[in-house]
Amino acid sequence: MKPVNVGLLGIGTVGGGTFTVLRRNQEEITRRAGRAIVLKMIADKDLKKARKLAGKNTIVTADAMEVVNHPDIDIVVELIGGTTVAKQFILKAIKNGKHVVTANKALLAIHGNEIFAAAHKHGVMVAFEAAVAGGIPIIKALREGLTANRVEWIAGIINGTSNYILSEMRNTGASFAEALRQAQALGYAEADPTFDIEGIDAAHKLTILAAISFGIPMQFDKVYTEGISKLAREDIRYAEELGYRIKLLGITKRTPKGIELRVHPTLIPARRLIANVEGVMNAVLVKGDAVGATMYYGAGAGAEPTASAVVADLVDVTRMHTADRKHRVPHLAFQPDALTNTPILPMSEVQTSYYLRLRAFDKPGVLADITRILADSGISIDAMLQKEPSEGEEQVDIIMLTHETVEKHINAAIRKIEKLSTISGKVVRIRLEELNRN
Ligand code: NDP
Ligand code: HSE
Repeated sequence: MKPVNVGLLGIGTVGGGTFTVLRRNQEEITRRAGRAIVLKMIADKDLKKARKLAGKNTIVTADAMEVVNHPDIDIVVELIGGTTVAKQFILKAIKNGKHVVTANKALLAIHGNEIFAAAHKHGVMVAFEAAVAGGIPIIKALREGLTANRVEWIAGIINGTSNYILSEMRNTGASFAEALRQAQALGYAEADPTFDIEGIDAAHKLTILAAISFGIPMQFDKVYTEGISKLAREDIRYAEELGYRIKLLGITKRTPKGIELRVHPTLIPARRLIANVEGVMNAVLVKGDAVGATMYYGAGAGAEPTASAVVADLVDVTRMHTADRKHRVPHLAFQPDALTNTPILPMSEVQTSYYLRLRAFDKPGVLADITRILADSGISIDAMLQKEPSEGEEQVDIIMLTHETVEKHINAAIRKIEKLSTISGKVVRIRLEELNRN
């Protein structure tokens, strides 16, 4: 059978990994795909780097548009990243009738609705397994393996860099800056690491997961996003003392009032499998009504793990290349005309439990004041820890875990607590999920 010709845009971390995996496993991949997948063209700004990698039959160019417009290219693999030129290349490739494989979660989360509409119009596939959780086939699992289910909720560690940083801080006592530098050196971090540490990258991925789980459009602007950059070492330690670990979770949940879409540091019980996901590894917990809870674990970033997902998409697209378009799996798992506009629940209405850390003067009546404010707001305390004051200090750390309450109620209570003359500074508030509910 005639080979499928691929044009690769960007030969950086993931592009380089894709090149290596395609070459190393060429024979197996051909046996699986049913025809050869040939890397016909590579475009990268750094021509020297591209030439060093490319074989003698691969055309190398600095102009990605040349690849996108080349009549012999069947599939364009976009591994440049970002939401500017990558968008232009993808839209042009689609217009030219070429299938697209991309790892670009930022682009899909922000412009996915436009890109998928264009792909639908031109009858081409846009595959994006690598865009969420690197090498873990979570898109395939949600779109196909779990298709019988009504997805109830998803909770995922979907940013390897921040998980790596949190693990390093907890296990080795490394500072936040040291751990971030290490993650960058290992190629895990985004070009702009604020995307990783401020939860933006996880929010991009959560946007995609929610769309394919609930049959809603991409709504990145509605994701509540809070990163790990302000987490203090003592909170990691106190959480541990209470039997919890802090992870940056992406959570999306179907509730009667709307869909929750939120990324934030979260205390989870240390005994949960997902709490033990360390380093750059990712894990996605999916609760389906029929299957119950399932968990998907693996490397969420890095050259070859991500290439594993890119090449899987290449094989999928190659297999479906000649199939009737109506028989293809819809991009967002649901038929394009069956997407719904289920509302996204504002963060103030989300219901969860909380970890609170207060710095208080060690005087009689302090605790009574705090618990009265919480009780008046209908918030019940689940556990409490009071630390000994350090030598010569008058203030102590008080740590409280609450039962579930609505976010706006805890916020109002915190504002009142911070006004007490016996409380010093801001109250630290971290959300807590038991991850054992229906
Ligand atoms: P890199 O920065 O390592 O690679 C991007 C490559 O594209 C670089 O070689 C860059 O060249 C080149 N490039 C930039 N602009 C152009 C252009 N206009 N024309 C041609 N080439 C260009 O990024 P990654 O490989 O890390 O990421 C690629 C994509 O994969 C991103 O969307 C990212 O979010 C996603 N991803 C990354 C993962 C990872 O582990 N790194 C995991 C999952 C997804 P130059 O360096 O000279 O600018
Ligand atoms: N920067 C991302 C991460 C790469 O750390 O998870 C994978 O998407």
